[in-house]
Amino acid sequence: MTNIAVLVSGGGTNLQALIDAKSRGEIARGRLCFVLSSNPDAFALERAAKAGIPTGVLRRKDFADGEDYAAALSQLLEEREIDLIVLAGFMTVLPDSFCKQWENRIINVHPSLIPSFCGEGYYGLRVHEAALAKGVKVTGATVHFVSEVVDGGAIILQKAVEIEPGDTPEVLQKRVMAQAEHILLPRAVSLFCDGKLRVADGRVMIEA
Ligand code: GAR
Repeated sequence: MTNIAVLVSGGGTNLQALIDAKSRGEIARGRLCFVLSSNPDAFALERAAKAGIPTGVLRRKDFADGEDYAAALSQLLEEREIDLIVLAGFMTVLPDSFCKQWENRIINVHPSLIPSFCGEGYYGLRVHEAALAKGVKVTGATVHFVSEVVDGGAIILQKAVEIEPGDTPEVLQKRVMAQAEHILLPRAVSLFCDGKLRVADGRVMIEA
């Protein structure tokens, strides 16, 4: 079994997609054992509690710097013998030391087709605002391993989503979540738990 921790900061619809996939039997070799929020008011915490998953809160502002924060986070994860960390709308950037320590064991979901609309400053609704401002006709979502480069780690899965006339950032965000993120993230987690992801030269190979 792969012990999974999901890190959240907000609504937690991606966490919910993982909980639902697990209950449908789609993450057979993974166990959702811990949900950690950077925000005590995150609705994601209620979703976790309802699913019977233990939760914790670590606020960045309670720590002197990112290194102290990451050390406390690592300790919590190690205590629970976590094998895979899933960033599901986690809005705190983690330091290089943390990314190195957990190399190829952290997965993130990002609401665009990387390398478009990603990196520092591109998160949540801002990503969709930027896509609409640019006038792209197709956007989507990406699930990738986390490296020291923000949104720069090896890509696991991507899915395109059409932009439609009259889209607002909010409407587009909902479509990207429903048509891409909530499908890709459980699939990527399941592939990881089944031992089917290989990383070489910054690229992911998926074994059949
Ligand atoms: C999701 O769209 C996720 O891709 C995005 O935040 C949202 C969280 O929603 N993450 C990023 O932008 C990371 N750079 P959720 O809390 O409902 O899962």
